[in-house]
Amino acid sequence: MVAVTSTWTEPGNTATALLLLGRGTDPASERGVDCPGDLPAPSDPDLVERATAAKAALGDRVFVLGHHYQRDEVIQFADVTGDSFKLAREAAARPEAEFIVFCGVHFMAESADILTGPAQRVVLPDLAAGCSMADMAVLGQVETAWDQFTDLGIAEDVIPVTYMNSSADIKGFVGRNNGVVCTSSNAKRALDWAFEQGRQVFFLPDQHLGRNTAVLEMGFDLDDCVLYDPHKPHGGLTPEQLRGAKMILWRGHCSVHGRFTIDSVREVRERVPGVNVLVHPECKHEVVRAADQVGSTEYIIRALDAAPAGSAWAVGTELNLVRRMALAHPDKQITFLDRTVCYCSTMNRIDLPHLVWALEELVAGRVPNQITVDADTAKYARVALDQMLALP
Ligand code: 13P
Ligand code: SF4
Repeated sequence: MVAVTSTWTEPGNTATALLLLGRGTDPASERGVDCPGDLPAPSDPDLVERATAAKAALGDRVFVLGHHYQRDEVIQFADVTGDSFKLAREAAARPEAEFIVFCGVHFMAESADILTGPAQRVVLPDLAAGCSMADMAVLGQVETAWDQFTDLGIAEDVIPVTYMNSSADIKGFVGRNNGVVCTSSNAKRALDWAFEQGRQVFFLPDQHLGRNTAVLEMGFDLDDCVLYDPHKPHGGLTPEQLRGAKMILWRGHCSVHGRFTIDSVREVRERVPGVNVLVHPECKHEVVRAADQVGSTEYIIRALDAAPAGSAWAVGTELNLVRRMALAHPDKQITFLDRTVCYCSTMNRIDLPHLVWALEELVAGRVPNQITVDADTAKYARVALDQMLALP
């Protein structure tokens, strides 16, 4: 056998550099990985004590919000936990807190910044905690689609509705065009409102939440929905398709929930007789159709809390939440719907070392990783968020 020798050259710090794990850093593509100051080691045995002490030192000056998908090690320090709707309301209802530490992902922290007062600072402990779904709708692409609707003469009758899981500038676009933000707990109410304002809805960025709500809750046909693909000319749709659709769905999805399949539903029903399948509406349409119940993270928690002892549940949502519910209810059989689906990697970026670091920086008088939305974007995004908060 001939021995082959080669020399490995580390790629440069380009936008597409693929660095070997543990070797070098690329600040351009790994925003927030490098914390200025000292990020405590995960093995530091004093992390819980340090977080407790920093939080106590800050007292009422800090309010910590924790999304249900956060790790247990972080959730234990949250003053309030919730789904994205509840957390948006909680952020808006804390004008006395100087600092809002958001243990969640970037779009949630942006919404908190928009809904809080100008003197309040919103901190995201790790700036790399983004959301792959939110990243699937970029403002320039959405404006191109809107220009197309304008050229076709339909824009006046199209109401844009964006899922909370979108960037502030997409929310700003929606506010500018008389639309509304929704979350998984009020999507039907938002769509009811939108169809009172116009004839068609442009739903961003989660095709599954849009389709599931329209078909399963509002009685639309699948044919009433078309899929707008921003990577194809004209969205991959003919003018007739665009004119005829009730729902124009943006081609975005959640990379975690998109992995649950109808096969996992069939398999769990065979394995666990009488099991109740409970999923988040970000799952694919056929999965939601095959499930027994569907709802937001807050809904999932309520359903499991209220379930009778001895009942069996297979839950299709992020693993941190399912694990926590299974541990909280040992008298019920709560399992994860699929054996191979992973944690949400971006939610998981907020770990205890980052939380300790953020809190200790605040104690030291520095504001780390502040999330700010520019005034013009915030003004219009707030219109769309306020419209959501005012939904009947
Ligand atoms: P909830 O609004 O149900 O909390 O969901 C947010 C989310 O990111 C789900 O993936
Ligand atoms: Fe985004 Fe999906 Fe993670 Fe929710 S679970 S934050 S939608 S990637």
